[in-house]
Amino acid sequence: MKIKAVIPAAGFGTRFLPTTKAVPKELLPIVDKPAIQYIVEEGLLSGIKDFVIITGKNKKAIEDHFDNYQELQSNLKSKNKENLIESISKIIEKANFLFVRQREQLGLGHAIQTARPAFSDEHLAIFLPDDIFTGKVPGMAQLIKIATQEKCNVVAVQEVPKEEVNRYGIIDIRRQFSPNLFQVRDLVEKPPVNAAPSNLAIVGRYVLSSNIFESLEDLQFGSGGEIQLTDGIQNLLLNGEKVFAYKIQGQRYDAGTILGWLKTNIEFALKHPEYSNIILEHLSKLDREFLVMQGKAESLSKKQVKINI
Ligand code: G1P
Repeated sequence: MKIKAVIPAAGFGTRFLPTTKAVPKELLPIVDKPAIQYIVEEGLLSGIKDFVIITGKNKKAIEDHFDNYQELQSNLKSKNKENLIESISKIIEKANFLFVRQREQLGLGHAIQTARPAFSDEHLAIFLPDDIFTGKVPGMAQLIKIATQEKCNVVAVQEVPKEEVNRYGIIDIRRQFSPNLFQVRDLVEKPPVNAAPSNLAIVGRYVLSSNIFESLEDLQFGSGGEIQLTDGIQNLLLNGEKVFAYKIQGQRYDAGTILGWLKTNIEFALKHPEYSNIILEHLSKLDREFLVMQGKAESLSKKQVKINI
């Protein structure tokens, strides 16, 4: 399958303001690498070489991150410290990058549409960079396998609590093939909690045929007043294309909110060969301190109860 990655990275990063006023959200670190680097690594491990990154104002640093920086490289070389940029140097060596600018923030569907000039008939492997997946087999590789075998479009899904369906695109299931694989009858972007066709939510990975560009054309503004990718996929279905949904095997981290980003950093640090033990020790120490504090609070309240009696 001929395939290119599309990574929409043009958003304002509102949830992380004021940090993201000048720094792209996609470059916030997850322990020792910027979030978007994990995404490109997953793409490369899934066999993808070409990456189209959708950027906007204040996002130039993303382009710099995926480019050579001769002065820094020679400086590190002279100090024998090239290992500090080894992970990104490897990526720059293997991957091709194309940056396309989204001039107006009209929604995810619109962002994907801006990648059109970079495509002829290749499939699109879409990565939403807020979602980071870990596991034995890279998340995108799992979707590509199904798209190739079944000759279909595939969206990644995950079960979410019923009260959270209004934060996601939700699928309506036509058929279930196995515990993790479904054929999609319909999809709806951010439905009200009581009108959702299921609790299977689309999470940040898609493999779509290049017909998605035509399906996104002339779309009306949808949920939230934006051009929605989910509505474009619905058009693919209406045009007779097959869409499957797959529960990616592995762990999904939502690094798109401050709380999610903090939790992701803690978990990644706990799994990091260099930091794991130190962080674990530190967390246990904090935990003991909190327990002591809680213990004191408990005995204090017991005293108060006694006094009151
Ligand atoms: C986007 C998609 C939505 C999907 C979600 C996954 O929404 O439009 O269908 O479920 O990503 O995170 P956003 O989070 O950009 O509002």
